Amino acid sequence: MKVLVINGPNLGLLGVREPDIYGNTTLADVEKRLQEIADSVNCTLEFLQSNHEGVIVDRLNAILTDEPVDGIVINPAAYTHTSVAITDALRACSKVPAIEVHISNISSRESFRHESLTAPACTGMIAGLGVNGYEWALRALLKILKK
Ligand code: DQA
Repeated sequence: MKVLVINGPNLGLLGVREPDIYGNTTLADVEKRLQEIADSVNCTLEFLQSNHEGVIVDRLNAILTDEPVDGIVINPAAYTHTSVAITDALRACSKVPAIEVHISNISSRESFRHESLTAPACTGMIAGLGVNGYEWALRALLKILKK
């Protein structure tokens, strides 16, 4: 079983960037925790962090050709609110379950963050639980894939 974990723009700065909103945990810490969970159930993880919309679209497209995966955890970051391209790419591989994660509660922040274009193209969404949301997302995905 293989799960692709995608983090969008500025999430490479986790732990440094606006710690009052996103906390002090780094992306490397998050990935380490996810790796521990995956190792315990014999699941392979692939991590991608990119500040570029097209890189994320290219990786999602490759799921349908030469780089298949069984599930996706994705925090599209700011592209959540703007990217028709990532939404379409998620829809193109809709047979692969995807869980969207937001560290912060996007519904309680500025109004431009209230709408997620990408969430309707995903199986489910977790928001506002801090970086623990990534762990819940992976666990939810593993449950879905077990069925
Ligand atoms: C975010 C929320 C987005 O609105 C923001 O642009 C991010 C991070 C989150 O994880 O809470 O970069 O996706």
